[in-house]
Amino acid sequence: MAEGNNTIQQSNGDFLAIRHLLENSPDIIYRYRVVPPRGFEYLNPAITAITGHTPEEHYKNPDLGLSLVLPLGLNLSDELIQKNPENEPVIIHFVCQNGEVIWTEHCSIPVTDEHGNVIAVEGIARNISNRKSNVESLSKSENGLIPFLFSTSEEFSKSTDIKQLARIIGTGLKELSHADQCVIINYPEGLDPYALWLSGFEEEDIPEIIQYIQVSLLNNHANKLSLYLIPEKDRRAFSSVAIRNKNSHTVVIAPFVYEKHLLAVGFCSHHQPYFIKEHEKAAIEAFCYQSAIVLENNRLGSELEEAYLESILALAKAIDARDTYTSDHSQQLVLWAEMVARKLGCNEKDIEAICWAALLHDIGKIGIPDEILHKPSHLTQEEWNTMKQHPEIGANIVGNIKKLKTAIPLIRHHHEHFDGTGYPSGLQGEQIPLGARILSVVDAYGAMIDRRVYRPPRKPEDAVYELQRKSGIQFDPKVVNAFLSFQSA
Ligand SMILES: [Fe+2]
Repeated sequence: MAEGNNTIQQSNGDFLAIRHLLENSPDIIYRYRVVPPRGFEYLNPAITAITGHTPEEHYKNPDLGLSLVLPLGLNLSDELIQKNPENEPVIIHFVCQNGEVIWTEHCSIPVTDEHGNVIAVEGIARNISNRKSNVESLSKSENGLIPFLFSTSEEFSKSTDIKQLARIIGTGLKELSHADQCVIINYPEGLDPYALWLSGFEEEDIPEIIQYIQVSLLNNHANKLSLYLIPEKDRRAFSSVAIRNKNSHTVVIAPFVYEKHLLAVGFCSHHQPYFIKEHEKAAIEAFCYQSAIVLENNRLGSELEEAYLESILALAKAIDARDTYTSDHSQQLVLWAEMVARKLGCNEKDIEAICWAALLHDIGKIGIPDEILHKPSHLTQEEWNTMKQHPEIGANIVGNIKKLKTAIPLIRHHHEHFDGTGYPSGLQGEQIPLGARILSVVDAYGAMIDRRVYRPPRKPEDAVYELQRKSGIQFDPKVVNAFLSFQSA
């Protein structure tokens, strides 16, 4: 007898435990009778939390559930049982009491009588609206991100200048992070960081932003994308006008890292608090990685170009030593060419090109044999034809260096004559680039006053006389006058 009581108590305990589980489940748990009298035999309180309708409403009105299904008229029994012999989860839209439409996922099994006829459905329904919404927004963001990354790739491919790249990166980052202000800070190895591109910030804000980034990155050893909410006390502490007065509430710090090397950092700020969503974070991270590869390629390209330039400069020195008695012949030409260019009102970019061309104008002589270059007597026609190739050879040598692009035509045409009798193209008058006309004058003067193997140096006054004599024939009179104004001064 005592054993029987224990069994009853045990059963009651199990029942209470199961009922407790059913009543407190966040998912809807139900048993619905599909044969008359139709209706819910059990429905837990989760239905109220999820749809707003109570179990009692459903008990009173067995068709209430059917009237809330979308599309209207959908036969739930068919969807869950007849069309679903494998009892796979089924997704159904429901309209809540407040009008909101939710996604629910149903896992159900049929309940049969002793003849195998379905008399009821038992199941669990879960609200999966958030999951659906996240998947949809992720899909939307991916759909938007791919064209975005594609279009920025196109822009990247057209740009080689670091400032242009920074503009593309900054504009993209600002757009992706919905920022009001953005700056791209470059972190060159072994040098101090500096702003490459900024929008909404001022140059005077940069030191404080760099300091903020340093502190943030120190706290974030992994160099990962970070979003910081700036506390009010920190905002007040900022001396920067941009951050203090424009009420930056949140900042996104986006490091551009390639193989653990920090190349640059994007710093974006928002005038209103900004809460980054997962899919936005993923998009920014993808963009940062793409940008880091572009920055690294640019850095490697610059390094290679610098190395090439250094070897060319070494070559130019060797040419000077080989061709002239004055080892700084080209350096002297640079000074004279710059003075003349300034006198003639050239802009800084042109002056830079003229200086490079002055330094490297005869680099093509590396391709001329010593027996021609150092021949003490007059050259034969064939030897002279070989000698005349040096401007073209020089232009080809420097042709691979972006920095020297504007100097190439000056190197190529530094032996053209004002009357069109020069080489290699026989250009005349102003067809000859001004920089090349300047080089022609200063190079001729330098050569005349320099000792050569086949003759002693000429006196400066003789060289001046020669320039004047050939002004308008070999030389541009305007350039000769500008140069001689310094000689007589
Ligand atoms: Fe030359």
